[in-house]
Amino acid sequence: MASIFSIKKKSSKTTRELHIPEHIAFIMDGNGRWAKSRSMPREYGHSKGADVFRDIIRYCGELGVKHITVYAFSTENWKRPENEVNAIMKLLAKFMDEAFADLEKEKVRVIFLGSKEPFSAELRERMEKLERDSSVYERILNVAFNYGGRDEIVHACNELIKEGVTTITPELISSHLYTRLSPDPDLIVRTAGEYRISNFLMWQSAYSEFYFTDKLWPDMTHEDVDAAIAAYSGRERRYGGVVEKKEDAKS
Ligand code: IPE
Ligand code: IPE
Ligand code: MG
Repeated sequence: MASIFSIKKKSSKTTRELHIPEHIAFIMDGNGRWAKSRSMPREYGHSKGADVFRDIIRYCGELGVKHITVYAFSTENWKRPENEVNAIMKLLAKFMDEAFADLEKEKVRVIFLGSKEPFSAELRERMEKLERDSSVYERILNVAFNYGGRDEIVHACNELIKEGVTTITPELISSHLYTRLSPDPDLIVRTAGEYRISNFLMWQSAYSEFYFTDKLWPDMTHEDVDAAIAAYSGRERRYGGVVEKKEDAKS
């Protein structure tokens, strides 16, 4: 199957029918099941999942998606066995090494969503350096790591208290979230056949479109991204209002 990207180049008609979301968020789920189905340890699934993650974000960039958010490790994922958590921390370090090396090629601003407090000083400094060094770029990659939607809202409220704010508004909350540099996600994709939000972008997803696929994250391909964008393009976003169609207006 040809990708949206190649169709886009060949046919302007198809481009008109497709709406490339400004912001796509991925709940990258199913690494463990992918490994288990190969009789391999869960860590193997995370390692393959990290390779796929790099490929998918690059592809989204090629499609013109300006903001990408990935759910890599939740505030609840610390409950997992120590070996697994350690393996994921090593993958975070590997991701950062590659991101530093590819900074000028990829031209993407990396932002970590979540408190950096639980990480080692060394890891934290590298995370902050990557955020600083990449801050010249416009395209944004939000990496949700030690992220929880409830934690994020509480953190925003505490920041507001520290600033002496006495009346909280939705705008003030939005501007104090970890995602404050990105618009709310247009499309949220979750893999691995689960139909839940698992504490992801709870505030920001108020009017997001959701796309669920049974594909396990390590099996995710460009064509799966195309399918998600095609489904999104067919959705009618009403934001609680009424969208009058041309045919309705005539009658
Ligand atoms: C998602 O895959 C990655 C993380 C949560 C870190 P899982 O590890 O949750 O995979 P399953 O759901 O057990 O298959
Ligand atoms: C959500 O997946 C978190 C990430 C993808 C990082 P989980 O696998 O942790 O979610 P639950 O436990 O199935 O809800
Ligand atoms: Mg899971």
